[in-house]
Amino acid sequence: MKILVTGGAGFIGSHTVVELLQASAEVIIVDNLSNSSPQALQRVAEISGKAPQFVKADVRDRAALQEIFKEHQPEAVVHFAGLKAVGESVEQPLSYYQNNITGTATLCEVMAEFGCKQLVFSSSATVYGDPEILPITENAPTGATNPYGRTKLFIEEMLRDLHVSDPEWRIALLRYFNPIGAHSSGRIGEDPAGIPNNLFPFISQVAIGKLPHLSVFGNDYATVDGTGVRDYIHVVDLAIGHLRALERLAKAPGLVTCNLGTGRGYSVLEMVAAFSRISGCEVPYQIKPRRAGDIAACYADPSFAKQELGWQAERGLEEMCQDGWRWQQGNRQGYRGSNG
Ligand code: NAD
Ligand code: WQD
Repeated sequence: MKILVTGGAGFIGSHTVVELLQASAEVIIVDNLSNSSPQALQRVAEISGKAPQFVKADVRDRAALQEIFKEHQPEAVVHFAGLKAVGESVEQPLSYYQNNITGTATLCEVMAEFGCKQLVFSSSATVYGDPEILPITENAPTGATNPYGRTKLFIEEMLRDLHVSDPEWRIALLRYFNPIGAHSSGRIGEDPAGIPNNLFPFISQVAIGKLPHLSVFGNDYATVDGTGVRDYIHVVDLAIGHLRALERLAKAPGLVTCNLGTGRGYSVLEMVAAFSRISGCEVPYQIKPRRAGDIAACYADPSFAKQELGWQAERGLEEMCQDGWRWQQGNRQGYRGSNG
């Protein structure tokens, strides 16, 4: 199968491309490299033993997309390309609406023009806002608390409207929980620019000594130890979920919305303890006030993904920490400063 992967040089995209190539798919990547490195693509090829085709372009560039569709005629698209930093989205909302919403609309228009109507979209658990009931099922109420989250909500609505207007479309809306870890080779992983916003890369940079300590944002939530609880999922499990979703779309028409999580939540302090144990390094931390917009707890009911896609997460917290630590140790500066 020929698959176009937008944002395929990024964290989740690069891991998904490895799984696709290993499953004998032909992969074309379109990425503007605004938040990723060409090194990731070299390493994807090294791990997989074959290279994906790569076009450096923006998904808002209609002419570039048309060229790609003309030349490669992909049968399906996995759409990761977009901006994802919550804080930045509050400061630069138009850039988020422009990249995420206009990007997706342009992509879908070009797909329709070339008769390609199978799409897997990267949504997020952020669409559940502050959940009333845990674990979260797909029919829980949605709502967003920041522009980034709103782009995901609006895109989901746009894709539902598209499917209503033309039921030939086959669409999977995958709501990711908190992807962490790295490929077991240690060659690809998460490479945040500057100081990480997310917990796992922050802990990992403290463990290796790049950052002095972790700030724990609040210890007065109604959780096991007062710190925030999240459903961390190994990025390779998440990547495999995309293959199952593509298989599902190939089998039956329709629009399907699935949580991709493990169903198990861990607190910030549980994450610190697990990472320290696996790495053998201390992770000093200081308790700080709550971070604006944070919620107490968020974890998935993943049973619908199992039923609908035949997918469930297989890798536990230990493996997430081991693989994330291997990546951190082998790539202290991420992809920067590396020639291969
Ligand atoms: P990432 O930033 O590592 O990957 C996104 C990729 O898209 C990058 O390579 C970037 O260069 C590219 N890109 C951005 N805008 C583009 C554009 N306009 N045209 C072409 N390429 C563009 O992020 P990620 O963590 O791999 O996330 C992938 C997707 O999953 C995103 O849509 C994100 O919102 C979503 N998501 C991520 C998480 C998470 O915690 N990482 C959770 C839920 C959902
Ligand atoms: C996890 C927990 C923090 C950093 C974000 C986005 C969400 C999704 C995934 C894309 C929370 C605590 C964190 C730190 C801390 N992305 N924390 N110190 O907030 O669940 O989700 O990434 O869709 O949209 O909002 O993930 O890793 O930032 O935080 O104490 O330095 O760790 O308060 O409880 P979050 P996170």
